[in-house]
Amino acid sequence: MRAGRLEEFSEKPKVVVAGNRHCAVARLGGSVYAFESLCPHAKWPLGFIGRIFLNREGRPMLLCAMHGGVWDLVSGEGTVEGKPAPPIRRYPVEVVDGDVHVRL
Ligand code: FES
Repeated sequence: MRAGRLEEFSEKPKVVVAGNRHCAVARLGGSVYAFESLCPHAKWPLGFIGRIFLNREGRPMLLCAMHGGVWDLVSGEGTVEGKPAPPIRRYPVEVVDGDVHVRL
């Protein structure tokens, strides 16, 4: 599905909807990430309380502010309060002429 223009996205996830499917999309510079829109820990909406950032190793991470959960957006692995959390579901993203497309 077409999610929007590249410049519409930031480190704060934005929920995009196509029919009965939805995901969250966020961008760091020219890199765009799509993932499930509800936190894998306790299903809080990442469009309100999520944020993505690069960790010290330069890996893109998602932070959920509700309980401080952190997920690696490359591997999908996450932790909450230092303990393993359910992985986050991620979706392939393609940017074509500034349009962001997500394969749900
Ligand atoms: S709901 Fe996101 S870390 Fe708990």
